[in-house]
Parts: sequence; structure tokens; C-alpha cells
Amino acid sequence: MKILVTGCAGFIGFHLCNNLVNKHIRIFGVDNLNDYYSPSIKKSRLSILKKNKNFRFYKKDISNYKAIEKIFAKNKFDIIFNLAAQAGVRYSIENPREYIKSNILGFCNLIELARLYDVKKFFYASSSSVYGEKRTFPLKENQAIHPTNTYSLSKKNNEEIAEIYSNYYKIKFVGLRFFTIYGEWGRPDMLILKFISSIRKKKTFFLNNFGNHFRDFTYINDVIKNLKILLFMNLKKKHEIYNVCSGKPVDIKYILRTLTKQFGNPIIKKRKKLNADVLKTHGCNKKLKKKTKYYNYTNIDDGLKNLVDWAKNKKNIQNY
Ligand SMILES: NC(=O)c1ccc[n+]([C@@H]2O[C@H](COP(=O)([O-])OP(=O)(O)OC[C@H]3O[C@@H](n4cnc5c(N)ncnc54)[C@H](O)[C@@H]3O)[C@@H](O)[C@H]2O)c1
Repeated sequence: MKILVTGCAGFIGFHLCNNLVNKHIRIFGVDNLNDYYSPSIKKSRLSILKKNKNFRFYKKDISNYKAIEKIFAKNKFDIIFNLAAQAGVRYSIENPREYIKSNILGFCNLIELARLYDVKKFFYASSSSVYGEKRTFPLKENQAIHPTNTYSLSKKNNEEIAEIYSNYYKIKFVGLRFFTIYGEWGRPDMLILKFISSIRKKKTFFLNNFGNHFRDFTYINDVIKNLKILLFMNLKKKHEIYNVCSGKPVDIKYILRTLTKQFGNPIIKKRKKLNADVLKTHGCNKKLKKKTKYYNYTNIDDGLKNLVDWAKNKKNIQNY
């Protein structure tokens, strides 16, 4: 089986490739190694992947149709996971064009190539941010979505393009609305590793909305286990969208207290809520549970413990 994973040097892409690659599954990874956050972190993840001879890396940009087509022409992919994207809600306020380029044009290139080269299944990353600011929880897949920035709009757009393609062509589409994924090798621009890193480097940590946020933290291993089950399943529907979440929102202040106990006191500067941030995310994961029969989600204390143990090893955290 040949699988294309875009964004393979990113947080989720890295874990997926690392978990899937074996003598029966060849993984072809694409990433442009951009500098939205330290490329050294991406290179460290890649150096782990490259140890496996069934992993092959292409440093390419998904918005470059010709470059990506060459990879499709050489390898007959059975499955695609599109995890490459310009991530980050806040960054999208300052840099909207990046989101149009990578998340919309890049996505369109891949979906079109999937059609032309007869790919069977196309998994793509959407986001909990498509829901916008809501007051009733948990958030369910069938409720109306209201993106409030270019990032979440690009994800809604992906879902809509996938829906249209699914009406005309034979590819099976699965959209994954990820909710605050955390874990080892996580993103340095997201709360947990940003907090740990500011303690280590004695840098000021800006606590938005005075810490009054709740997030549905979802441990990376649970994400990968679900993706693996979906990958091998018989997908009956032409296009399905799933919340990928633990379904248990956690108070940000609880996370920061736990990390402070492990790493010491940070320099914290509290500030008001940023426009781009929502107060709370809390997804319903019943639809995904029903599909994959995966019920045993990691609780926040166990997930944080694994991440803390990992982060205490200087070699792992040196580029953060
Ligand atoms: N981590 C989360 O909590 C979370 C939540 C919601 C949605 N998502 C989505 O999941 C996907 C993976 O997220 P992640 O956390 O691993 O992010 P990440 O930034 O760590 O990984 C994305 C990777 O894609 C690459 N990339 C970006 N633009 C590219 C382009 N034009 N061509 C080729 N490569 C490109 C980047 O270099 C990066 O390595 C993204 O689509 C993201 O929007 C993540």
C-alpha cells in the first residue's frame, strides 16, 4: 500500500507517518518545511522518519501543482492524508494570503490530482475552529458552522470542495475536525509547549483572557489510533466529517498549574482576550466513536505526564 502524507514534518503528520510506515505500507511524505515555527523541529522529526527505508521525503510545496503532479506520476497512491496547511488562528489575522495559498490552492491541487490518479481514499485536516464562537456544547458535526477568520474559512472551504468532488467522483473523503491536539513533538506555537519553552528560556508568557479559556485537549496517540482504524475501514459514505476530540474540555489554568509544578514558575503577563480566540471548545465525539469503536481516550493527566517526561529530555526539547 502506498500512502501520501502531506505535512509529514508537522506535528500530526510526523506521528502518523511514524506509526504507519512498515514493510507493507510505504509512506511518501511531502512538506515545504516552512518557518512558521522552527524548521529545526521539523528536521528533527524528519530525521526519525528517514530511518525507515519505506519512508520517502519530498521537500515540495502543495501549492505548486507541477511539482506535486510529478510525485503522483511516479507513485501510484492508494490513499492521501492531507495534513499540510498553514496552521494557527491568530497568525491568519496578520497573514491571510498564506491560508489561501496553502490551505485552499494547495488543497485544490491535491484533490484534483487524487481524481486524476484514481486515489481511493482522501483524508484531510479540518478544524474545530470552523464552528466559530458557540454557546451550546458539545459541538456536533451536523450543526451550522460559522468561521470567523481566514484559517477557519479555509477549512470550511476544504469541506465544501470535498463534498462537491464526492458527488462527481469515486474517491471516499473523510474530513477530520481536530480539537487542540497535544503530545510529544507538539507544536511550539500552541499553549503547552509554548509555556514549557518560556519557562526554560526565562521568557515572558502572555496569558490571554487572563487564562479564562477551556479547550478540548486531545492526546496525539488517540488521534493516530482513530486515523489508523479509519484508514483500514470500509468507508461506505462518499464523504464524512468527524470531530476528533476527547470530548472533555479542560481549564487552561489547570494545565498551567500542572506544568508549573514540573518546570517551575514562568514570567506571566496576563492580558485581555484576543479577538481571534474562542472562549471554549468542547466537541462531541459520539459519531467517531460509533464509527471506529475506539472509546479509550487518554485522560489529560496521563497525556500531560507523557509529554512532560518527553520534554524533560534535553535532546527532545533543544529546538523548542
Ligand atoms: N494541532 C492541532 O491542534 C490542530 C487543530 C486543528 C486543525 N489542525 C490541522 O491539522 C493539520 C496538521 O496540523 P499540525 O498541528 O501537525 O500543524 P504543523 O504546522 O505542525 O504541520 C503542518 C505541516 O505542513 C507543512 N506545510 C504548510 N504549508 C505547506 C505547503 N504549502 N506545502 C507543503 N507543506 C506545507 C508545514 O511545514 C508543517 O510541517 C493542519 O491542517 C492543521 O490546520 C491541527
